[in-house]
Amino acid sequence: MHSALACSLTGEIHDFRVLQGLSRSGKPLLATYDLGALRGTWTPDIVRSRAVRSMWRFHEVLPVNSPEEAVSLGEGMTPLLKCQPTGPFSAFGDLLIKDESFNPTQSFKARGMSAAVTRASAFGVKTVALPSAGNAAGAAAAYAARAGMKCVIFVPDDTPPANILESVCGGATVYLVNGLISDCGRICRSACDRFGWFDLSTLKEPFRLEGKKTMGYELAFDLADYRRTSDLQLPDVILYPTGGGTGLIGMWKAFDEMEQLGWIGPQRPRMVVVQAEGCAPIVKAFREGATSASLFPNADTIASGLRVPAAVGDFLMLDIVRRSGGTAVTVTDSQLMAGVGELARWQGVHAAPEGGAIWMAAAQLQKEGWIRSDETVVLFNTGAAVKYNHLLKADGLTRLDHRDPAVLDQLMSVS
Ligand SMILES: Cc1ncc(COP(=O)(O)O)c(C=O)c1O
Repeated sequence: MHSALACSLTGEIHDFRVLQGLSRSGKPLLATYDLGALRGTWTPDIVRSRAVRSMWRFHEVLPVNSPEEAVSLGEGMTPLLKCQPTGPFSAFGDLLIKDESFNPTQSFKARGMSAAVTRASAFGVKTVALPSAGNAAGAAAAYAARAGMKCVIFVPDDTPPANILESVCGGATVYLVNGLISDCGRICRSACDRFGWFDLSTLKEPFRLEGKKTMGYELAFDLADYRRTSDLQLPDVILYPTGGGTGLIGMWKAFDEMEQLGWIGPQRPRMVVVQAEGCAPIVKAFREGATSASLFPNADTIASGLRVPAAVGDFLMLDIVRRSGGTAVTVTDSQLMAGVGELARWQGVHAAPEGGAIWMAAAQLQKEGWIRSDETVVLFNTGAAVKYNHLLKADGLTRLDHRDPAVLDQLMSVS
C-alpha cells in the first residue's frame, strides 16, 4: 500500500487518504511506498512463490493491502518471446517481444485500468469518465463493469470500430467527438467538473501509472527466467510506442523502486520513444533539446494510440529518455503497417500498429548501428492486430469450387 502522493514536478506531498487527480501545480502525482521497510523482507523469491497469476503479485507496490482487494481480470504476466533469428530479424543478437496483447481486452491498458479502477472503487466512486484513443476505452469499460461502476468515454469519431464496440458492449456510454484525444480530454474534464464524475484520464490520476509500471517489474523477472538466473535483469534497450507515455514513465519508476528494494543495481536500459511521423511531439522536443513538448499541429496517424498531440507527462518522458542515454524516433504509417506484416509473417505475432512501429524503429536503429548485435533489446507490443481489422488486408485470396474435379490443379497454380 502506498504511503504518500508526491507531485512529479515539485515533490509536494498530497494526502493519499483522499481521492486525488493532478497535483496542486497541475502535474501528475506519483505514489510513493515505504520501500525502506520492504527492503530485505519483500524479496523476488516471495513474488515467485505466489499463487496469484496477475500483476497483483506485486501488491506491496500497488494501491491495495492484499490482492483480494483488486478489481482484476487477470492482467499482466504476459509472455516475453524471443524472436526467431530469421529474415529481417536475423541482424539482432537477442531480440525479445513483451507481448501485451495477452492482457484482458488485448492491450496493456488493462494494467492501468485495473489499478485505477481498484483505487476509485475503494473510494466509492460511482462513475468514471475518460478520453481515449481506443484501447483504454475498451479496458475502462471492462474494469468499470467488473467494479459495478458507470463509465463515460469520449473518443475521436474515427477511433477503431472494435474499440467502440467493446466499450458499448461493456456497458459504457460512448461519445464520438469530431476532434483529437486532446479535444476529448477537454470535454471530459468539464463534464467531470459539472457532473461529479471521476476523471480517469491517463496521468491525471495517479494509479494508471502504477498499473503500467508492473511491466517494468515483470520484465526484470522474465529476463531472469530467460537467462536462467535468480538475479533480476534488465535489457540494454527498451523500445516503447509512446502516446501519453504512461508506460514509459511507469517502467522507469519501477526500475527506481526495484533499486531501492535492493533487487537491481543502478544500471538502466536505454529507453527509446517511438512515435508516428504524423504525431511526434516528444521526438520533436527531444531533437530540439527542449525539456517540454509543444502541441503537435495537425496530428495524424493510423496508429490511434500514438495520436496524442500533447501529453501531460512530456517533461518526465524527455527526462527519462535523456537520463537513460536513449533516443526518440519516428516511423511513417506505411512503415508501421509493414512492421505489423513482418511481425505476423516472420514471428507469428499479430501486433497492433503501435507494435509494428516498434519493430520498424528497432530495425532502423540496428541499421544505423545505434543498436549493437551483442545487445539485449526488448520491443513492447502494446496491443493486438485484431482491434485494427479495418486496417488489415487479405490480398491474393483464391475461391475454390468443391465440385470441380480439377480443383487441385488450382492449388498447384497458386503454390
Ligand atoms: C496499442 C497502444 N500502444 C501505445 C499507446 C500509447 O500508450 P501510452 O499512453 O502509455 O504512451 C496506446 C494508447 O492508446 C495504445 O493503445
